[in-house]
Amino acid sequence: MAADILLVDDESSLLRVTQVRLRNAGYQVETAGSGEYALEVLEKQPFPLVITDLMMPGMSGLDLMARVRASHPDTAVIVVTAFGTVETAVAAMKAGAFDYLTKPIDGDELLLTVRRALEHLRMREEIQVLRTSLDKKYGFENIIGKSNALMYVLDIASRAAQSDSTILIRGETGTGKELLAKAVHFASRRHHAPFVAINCGAIPRELIESELFGHVKGAFTGAVAHKKGKVETADGGTLFLDEIGELPLELQVKLLRLVQEREIEKVGGGSSKVDVRLVAATHRNLEAMVEDGTFREDLFYRLSVIPLELPPLRERPGDIPELVEHFFVKAKQKLGREDLVLPQALLPYFQSHRWPGNVRELENIVERIIVLARGGEVTVNDLPPNLRQERAPAAHDAFRLELPESGISLEGVERELILRALQKFEWNQSQAARYLDISRKTLIYRMEKFGLDKEKES
Ligand SMILES: Nc1ncnc2c1ncn2[C@@H]1O[C@H](COP(=O)(O)OP(=O)(O)OP(=O)(O)O)[C@@H](O)[C@H]1O
Ligand SMILES: [Mg+2]
Repeated sequence: MAADILLVDDESSLLRVTQVRLRNAGYQVETAGSGEYALEVLEKQPFPLVITDLMMPGMSGLDLMARVRASHPDTAVIVVTAFGTVETAVAAMKAGAFDYLTKPIDGDELLLTVRRALEHLRMREEIQVLRTSLDKKYGFENIIGKSNALMYVLDIASRAAQSDSTILIRGETGTGKELLAKAVHFASRRHHAPFVAINCGAIPRELIESELFGHVKGAFTGAVAHKKGKVETADGGTLFLDEIGELPLELQVKLLRLVQEREIEKVGGGSSKVDVRLVAATHRNLEAMVEDGTFREDLFYRLSVIPLELPPLRERPGDIPELVEHFFVKAKQKLGREDLVLPQALLPYFQSHRWPGNVRELENIVERIIVLARGGEVTVNDLPPNLRQERAPAAHDAFRLELPESGISLEGVERELILRALQKFEWNQSQAARYLDISRKTLIYRMEKFGLDKEKES
């Protein structure tokens, strides 16, 4: 069997202890005493997971990680930091580390982190297979990004695609809701039948009903002929109800009937059965709309059989380089500027932007840069002013921490930070995670680790 893990550390005693621990848990483990040697080992044999110390004489752990990520993009890297150097850990996470461990390494945490990393890789591999095997034009392979947060959603979506269950996709504007809806359709057994989208927010209220369900001749003034509705057009395929939060209450009742009974009633005519898979999407907070009575609770529950939440781009900065590259290549071809080069050094500007318009904003900005670029190479001056100026504050600028002479517990500080963020957002995990710039899964993992829960803390 191929080895699972390559351990890199200059301290041989630590290497041995960790190796034994992992071996006892059933993993195949190889070791390397330096970054340089690790690269040699990797050249002969790939490893799904590399665990490296950050502080090593010669090649540092960060440099090693950069080299590994360049030559073995499918390898996950976990970094090990010395006590009190959380800033390097943060930098490592930003540069694409899967996770970090602090010395002295806690045995349970080590195993938990390794298990999560390998599980994540397995999931990613499954999605990769899906990406290559399905419809090339609209399939999952068009959805760029490898972040945990995105993979988590794609994993559920790809499995849900095989069923006929109704899916509700949520996410801020430009996060790829429609892209995902299409991927689900083209990965489903319905992919030969139509994918029909209707934007509930863009059609005038009085026309939505006939757009959706069709009408019979003479049903109202102007109805000069029978008209097929979108639902009927989608028969056998998938109906994508975009901006579902904009659907007026009176139509929500009619939609409920479709969702429940797969039955439609034409304006001015009788009812008939249809066979459609429903995917709905919204950027709105439907729970709040249910609260204030603008969205039917029964409809909400019927739609969210499989709820999927696309994470905002700022929560997955690790996906940004690949997205920039993807759109850069695409737009260069479109605009006939194949000669243009985008230096890697500019990527941090993209990674520290907040991207309120998410992937769509990024796509548009990349295109604008190409249109406006003067030379053969994009320079800082070609970037839009907001990218140039608003480098996000680094962790150490965001709050100034006095270091007490007597020492300080890193875990204690981390726990306190997480607790305060949770309290700040009344224990709303999504908001707290966003604030801390980590995924919700990471937050939950840390909450469990520190035994943080609402009841106990209040
Ligand atoms: N992960 C991704 N990989 C590649 N392209 C993406 C990704 N996410 C979004 N896009 C692209 O970004 C643009 C916006 O995506 P999409 O229209 O699906 O977003 P949306 O969530 O429906 O936005 P809105 O709420 O504003 O309608 C599209 O051009 C889409 O192809
Ligand atoms: Mg959309």
